[in-house]
Amino acid sequence: MTNQEQNITDGFGRVHDYLRISLTERCNLRCTYCMPEEGIPLRDKAEFMSSEELLTIAKVFVKLGVKKIRLTGGEPLVKKGFENLILKLGELPVELALTTNAILIDKYLGVLKEAHVKKINVSLDSLKADVFNAISRRKYFNKIVENIDLLLVNEFHVKINVVLIKGTNDSEIIDFLEWANNKNIHVQFIEFMPFDGNNWNLEQNVSFKEIMEAVAAYYGIENIVKLEDAKNDTARNYKIINSTATFGIISSVTNPFCSTCNRIRLTADGKIKNCLFSQTETDLLTSLRNGEDLEKLILNAIQAKHKERGGLEEFSNDSVKKIKNRSMTVIGG
Ligand code: GTP
Ligand code: 5AD
Ligand code: SF4
Repeated sequence: MTNQEQNITDGFGRVHDYLRISLTERCNLRCTYCMPEEGIPLRDKAEFMSSEELLTIAKVFVKLGVKKIRLTGGEPLVKKGFENLILKLGELPVELALTTNAILIDKYLGVLKEAHVKKINVSLDSLKADVFNAISRRKYFNKIVENIDLLLVNEFHVKINVVLIKGTNDSEIIDFLEWANNKNIHVQFIEFMPFDGNNWNLEQNVSFKEIMEAVAAYYGIENIVKLEDAKNDTARNYKIINSTATFGIISSVTNPFCSTCNRIRLTADGKIKNCLFSQTETDLLTSLRNGEDLEKLILNAIQAKHKERGGLEEFSNDSVKKIKNRSMTVIGG
């Protein structure tokens, strides 16, 4: 091993410098599109990375050229020992970001600042308390909205994630943009993706085209301006003239963006997924516990990455039945 920085590259020349770590499979919500109502089966604590193991593995990724780490879940803030872990991760030479449902943000605000976390994405699928509480099967709407305000007052960079589902919240596209106007908020409308246990079907997906049509019908197509996307963005981003609102559309279903993918996922039980939809995984945690060389395993796992969507050519009601993937709360989004 040398100390020289290397790149993690796949067979298509894509450099992978962005690691998404799921801190825990557990969550304090039960969103219908993410998890079954009864939650996911509880597993022995020993099957998951301890904070020390997670840090050791994260450092190997950093040595291999990872420049950005986003913490996901389940809900990352329910991880035991979150405070110490985030402070340690904050010492690594990476940009640290978080995707959360914001229920526990008030509790961890200070420590997030101390760890230099600046970018926080918050899942909020409806601006109507009853609709949100029905989607999430819990009653935290008011708490979440309060905590979003807290993030804004404290100058975090906030994106709101809205997974659109036909007949549930697709009538709220304009409400979200009006709500974001005069606030420093970027809204991401997300196409509904298929995972184990989420009863996905194509008919419920609200497509990129439908989202754009709704925005254009209200604001006028001439008032929607394309923003420049960052090289590895999953979203196509826009602004609206005469509004401070900006928005992005993440269209994994109708318009995948895999050609610029730079993402690696590490699950809470220490496995790498080289794509959100990959059906194979590489078990880093067991190898770490056996004293094996993690660098080689990581490099090989990414070399084996498919060109698009884990090898799935399209999302159709039939094709997704044939794939075996874990639920979103287990993969970490
Ligand atoms: P940044 O680019 O770091 O701002 O993150 P993001 O907006 O992609 O992250 P976030 O965790 O908020 O995820 C928003 C949505 O994008 C979720 O529905 C994710 O599942 C989805 N997403 C994130 N990464 C990928 C990816 O690599 N592929 C696909 N298909 N979807 C992704
Ligand atoms: N399709 C699209 N996005 C999803 N998320 C969870 N499940 C799905 C799905 N089936 C989103 C959550 C969260 C992010 C990490 O992933 O809304 O914001
Ligand atoms: Fe990357 Fe897979 Fe997402 Fe495509 S579907 S952008 S290859 S993680």
